[in-house]
Amino acid sequence: MPANVRKILVSNALPYANGSIHMGHLVEYLQGDIWVRFQKLRGHQCTYVCASDVHGTPIMLKARELGVSPEELTEKVTEEFLRDFAAFGIEFDNYHTTHSPENEALVAEMFSVLYEAGDIYTRTIEQAYDEQEGMFLPDRFVRGTCPRCKTADQYGDACENCGATYSPADLIDPVSVLSGTTPVKRDSEHYFFKLSDYEERLRQWIAEAALEKTMVAKLEEWFEAGLQDWDISRDAPYFGFRIPGTDDKYFYVWLDAPVGYAASFKNLCERRDDLDFDEYWRPGHDTELYHFIGKDIMYFHTLFWPAVLQGAGFRTPTSVFAHGFLTVNGKKMSKSRGTFINARTYLDHLHPAHLRYYYAAKLGPTVEDLDLNLEDFVARVNSDLVGKLVNIASRCAGFINKRFDGQLAAELHDPALFATVAGAADDIAEHYEQREYSKAMRRVMALADDANRYIDEKKPWVMAKDEAQLPEVQAICTQGINLFRSLMIYLAPVIPTVAADAREFLAESAWHWDDAGDPLLATGIAAFRPLLTRVEASQVNDMVEQSKQS
Ligand code: 2FM
Ligand code: ZN
Repeated sequence: MPANVRKILVSNALPYANGSIHMGHLVEYLQGDIWVRFQKLRGHQCTYVCASDVHGTPIMLKARELGVSPEELTEKVTEEFLRDFAAFGIEFDNYHTTHSPENEALVAEMFSVLYEAGDIYTRTIEQAYDEQEGMFLPDRFVRGTCPRCKTADQYGDACENCGATYSPADLIDPVSVLSGTTPVKRDSEHYFFKLSDYEERLRQWIAEAALEKTMVAKLEEWFEAGLQDWDISRDAPYFGFRIPGTDDKYFYVWLDAPVGYAASFKNLCERRDDLDFDEYWRPGHDTELYHFIGKDIMYFHTLFWPAVLQGAGFRTPTSVFAHGFLTVNGKKMSKSRGTFINARTYLDHLHPAHLRYYYAAKLGPTVEDLDLNLEDFVARVNSDLVGKLVNIASRCAGFINKRFDGQLAAELHDPALFATVAGAADDIAEHYEQREYSKAMRRVMALADDANRYIDEKKPWVMAKDEAQLPEVQAICTQGINLFRSLMIYLAPVIPTVAADAREFLAESAWHWDDAGDPLLATGIAAFRPLLTRVEASQVNDMVEQSKQS
């Protein structure tokens, strides 16, 4: 492998397998997929893994309610996830499950190393227990009156009215969500990870990982508040991995979930001779590891996870990239407004490329929230993708197809203009690399404006009326098609299926990023077919109506 080829492993947060993929999830998966596709297009060895996160009490109880096993439930949900990911062009190299032998072995190894080193210890804690159901209750399964503002029916960990945080024992008149009975307090021995011992090592990792500055500020707040040791066990009944050496203790779902990244990769290594587990997961190798996550799960990924990895003898992530939440029309997604839109509902009405482009046009590298404004969505997609980009090709292709037998000219008509577009490659690449997708999209669309202006000025449709000018018409249209081609290469990570159709029209079998600087000349192209159609407001309205109904 050439020396400048980077070896990169990328993960997206593992979706919890008890619901459907919605537009909020897609921000993250599309952000990750675009980055991976960009790295691959640049010729790097980039591997993209994910898995279903399947353990824990909510899945156990949901399966029980449906009368199926947690395995059956999560396999079915996973099938739906995979169908949605595929439809949106989210192309993992491996998609696994946290309930796998690879994951169990890795979790057991990490636990044993940490336990031997004294990083895990046991302590007896008092917890809410539902005597009727015969189980300990997670905080969210106890509800009662807020001890501070006295609002009724609040969760056991926090009040939605006044924001107070507390433990279920502090609630006034607590009840178990499962049986409606009053929980009792019961002792149980739990396993704790000594996060408090890791502050210095974490600070060093945070500096090396060059985390985004608002993430660093958040971490600083957490350090100031003091790192608490982490309860990594749960009592039976629990769907998860049993802690070795115990009868009724299980690893907390949040311990084995991130290990699922390594387990999914390990599972892939079994099928791929070119990938070596240790090269990506043990310290001292020249590989890169990145996790794309939402800002709500930063604590797990920037404190617990790197500390566990360090202590257990694994490598730490090169960096962690957190994104913000999605709002729709400036507000939190809402079922009653029809803005809680599932991936499936979107696909019933709209083309995946539209959303991929819109998100890219709005995404940056920070934890800032992203707004899907539905009116702006229609306008932006129509103006940029259809009006600017596809328009370049559709204005030139007809002439090449009909008047020149599908043959491109041997020379460009305006090499300087082509050089301008080719010369933007490094800047656009740097924007992608830094996850500044909105900057990359703006630059590409500004170049598309230049290309359209060029065609407007040359007016090949007027020149084509004069036989004597036909050679120039061929050169002008060859120029237009080449500008379109370079821009399509830049956009291939964002709209891969549209780019693949464009590549087919250009009769090329594969693209590398550098091809954008190397024009296609004196060669035949195929007949042009419209690559994307306009979005109508009615499609969006129908999607919103359907979301209200479901
Ligand atoms: O927040 C969630 O939906 C979790 N299932 C994400 C897990 S990410 C990783 F740790 F596995
Ligand atoms: Zn309150």
